[in-house]
Amino acid sequence: MDKLQISGGVALRGEIAISGAKNAALPLLCAALLTREPVTFTNVPHLNDIGTMLKLLAQMGVKVTREATHDAGNGMGKVPGGSSEAVQGKQGAGDTVTLDASALDNPVAPYELVKTMRAAILVLGPLVARTGEAKVSLPGGCAIGARPVDQHIKGLAAMGAEIAVEHGYVHAKASRLKGARIFTDMVTVTGTENLMMAACLAEGETVIENAAREPEVVDLATCLNAMGARVSGAGGDVIRIQGVPALHGATHRVMPDRIETGTYLCAAAATGGDVRLTGTSSAYLDALIDKLMDSGCEVAAEREAIRLKAPARLNAVSLRTAPYPAFPTDMQAQFMAINTVAEGTAVIRETIFENRFMHAVELIRLGADIKIDGNTAFVTGVARLEGANVMATDLRASASLVIAGLVAQGDTVIERIYHLDRGYEALDQKLTALGARVVRLK
Ligand code: EPU
Repeated sequence: MDKLQISGGVALRGEIAISGAKNAALPLLCAALLTREPVTFTNVPHLNDIGTMLKLLAQMGVKVTREATHDAGNGMGKVPGGSSEAVQGKQGAGDTVTLDASALDNPVAPYELVKTMRAAILVLGPLVARTGEAKVSLPGGCAIGARPVDQHIKGLAAMGAEIAVEHGYVHAKASRLKGARIFTDMVTVTGTENLMMAACLAEGETVIENAAREPEVVDLATCLNAMGARVSGAGGDVIRIQGVPALHGATHRVMPDRIETGTYLCAAAATGGDVRLTGTSSAYLDALIDKLMDSGCEVAAEREAIRLKAPARLNAVSLRTAPYPAFPTDMQAQFMAINTVAEGTAVIRETIFENRFMHAVELIRLGADIKIDGNTAFVTGVARLEGANVMATDLRASASLVIAGLVAQGDTVIERIYHLDRGYEALDQKLTALGARVVRLK
């Protein structure tokens, strides 16, 4: 299993391009299930989760073509398109994906694929809306929390789907979904996306209240409208969808990855660096940028780029995660890494997931001073971290270990970096381009 060795102590400097957003691309690919016509996506990142989603769609009968429209500047060459099996998991595959769901014949998401990627639940809404039937494995818990999907199910049931949960699978049936008023008990990102997609083909109007306002929800709504849907209000907490009988093909560019952007900003901040990130926008990152400025960094927003210059030592900054536009849970671990070497004590409160502090024990192995009390972490900055062997437990936890490793003196070896490959395109190449000393060990 691959490991990442980081020889820390180098301030990150230079410029890299940010990739398309994983959490936008995953629901967007599922939206292609809603139409018989081909849908083309550009700026699709090369990530294991994207490979898994394409494999899942292919086994349902979706024809998958992947080709390069440009060299992403990260060493990935042009490759011809092919079946999803040909491209599954290959880092060299192209950034343009065309999905043709005209011959969709197997509306099933099996356990083997869903267990590796919870976002597979996003096929549930589109499948039942388009084919009248879906059989999707229940995702189960994961490292960061229990993560039930009861709100996805409740919403589809409100739209008239008959739902049975049997043998670990959700079976949903409906001859045609009907518009409904849905109030979700908590803000759920994929729940909002699943219900919004299903409602596009329902009869009449659906209103989703307490909807997630994340930019990825807006990106999905934009694509759905380009496919002929009538979605309004995305980005606010009430989304209205007027159902239509059918959607058509479209081409859509996946938005930039705000969490990848934020992760490199934190890495630059922690190392006292100076970086410029292109192909991205500060528009989705207000809460994080505020905190980075509080920590003493200079952040300059350009039209499609962000530059950050860090001071020699950062100030500790407290934060509380909450749904967008508040501070994202997906940046909590990376900001904790910054605070481990800042001046003072920070209080970090995690309100979205019940078990998202697993990076703390690994950061402590590198010399960090962190105390956990329930959903609150108290992080007191130390003068220096020291390299050690650490274990990645989930995607964002691994990103925090990378940041700590970049700061630590000596070598840090991170095990189980398949977690990183799920969500960070060409991480080792991008870090190397910024001057870091990073080697992937087999
Ligand atoms: N929840 C329920 N019932 C539901 C749905 C959610 O109880 O039916 C709870 C969850 O257990 C959690 C909270 O509601 O405590 C919010 O979960 P949400 O549904 O918003 O999370 P998600 O849609 O499963 C997405 C991202 C996550 C990100 C969260 C929160 C995708 C594919 N995943 O997950 O991304 O952390 O929103 O912003 O969009 C990551 O990229 O590392 C990642 C975990």
